[in-house]
Amino acid sequence: MTAVPQTILMCPPDHFEVVYVINPWMEGQFANTDDALAHRQWNDLRNAIELHAKVVLEPPRQDLPDIVFTANAGLVLGKKVIVSRFRSVERQGEEPHHRAWFTENGFEILDWPPEVPFEGAGDALSDRGRELLWVGHGFRSDAAVPALLERLLDRKTAALTLIDPRFYHLDTCLCPLAGGYLLYFPAAFDEKSRALIEVLVPKDKRIAVEEADALKFCCNAVDLDGFVLMNDASENLRSRLRSAGFTPVITPLSEFMKAGGAAKCLTLKLVEI
Ligand code: ARG
Repeated sequence: MTAVPQTILMCPPDHFEVVYVINPWMEGQFANTDDALAHRQWNDLRNAIELHAKVVLEPPRQDLPDIVFTANAGLVLGKKVIVSRFRSVERQGEEPHHRAWFTENGFEILDWPPEVPFEGAGDALSDRGRELLWVGHGFRSDAAVPALLERLLDRKTAALTLIDPRFYHLDTCLCPLAGGYLLYFPAAFDEKSRALIEVLVPKDKRIAVEEADALKFCCNAVDLDGFVLMNDASENLRSRLRSAGFTPVITPLSEFMKAGGAAKCLTLKLVEI
């Protein structure tokens, strides 16, 4: 469905583990990830992506276990990037590495006010049917972010308030799909945000999911050429996606779920127009 060849940034899970708690998924998971399994799952995801896009790698870093979640490196638009400003100190050490990677790879880094937390493509997602950025705030990114992005990038934003701590980043509960479809979990948003989604996306393009699917991080999906890569989804959701013209691809990511992330979190699209 997408015509533009895509390049995706990933980071191998060599130093991935759960050693702190900054979201509810990490509770009780201290040092509980299976390293070999994490590598296998990450490689399976990479291989699935490489059928549709080029994968480039950012080096993993010791003592920065969550750097594997490259969705949070920054927000890319054209050759410009806003490098993330993490809310939690545990992840702030990633910032200079992301900054260096983007600079070395020819991106122009836009100035961002350091006092405003913003977690990149974890909380800002391009609609795939029109020029619009969906921006989530409430847990990680600051409420000031949508207006700031609108000014800096000269792009219209739709600000959405997240209210369920299990869905602390926008990409855990919302995924724009080609053709203006929207895969999302309504209960993760406040009433005003749900109403905004309903105004902006016609009913036949809204793929609202049940809690059971949302908890499998089905919305944390990577859409590539009509294929939708995700950790898991019920048979019902798979068939709804097929009816809308998409092909669900299940690629299990249990080890990364223990840190509160799945397919989309482990990737960053570098071609965004
Ligand atoms: N443990 C990481 C955190 O809490 C997971 C990040 C998942 N990334 C995402 N884009 N949702 O920050």
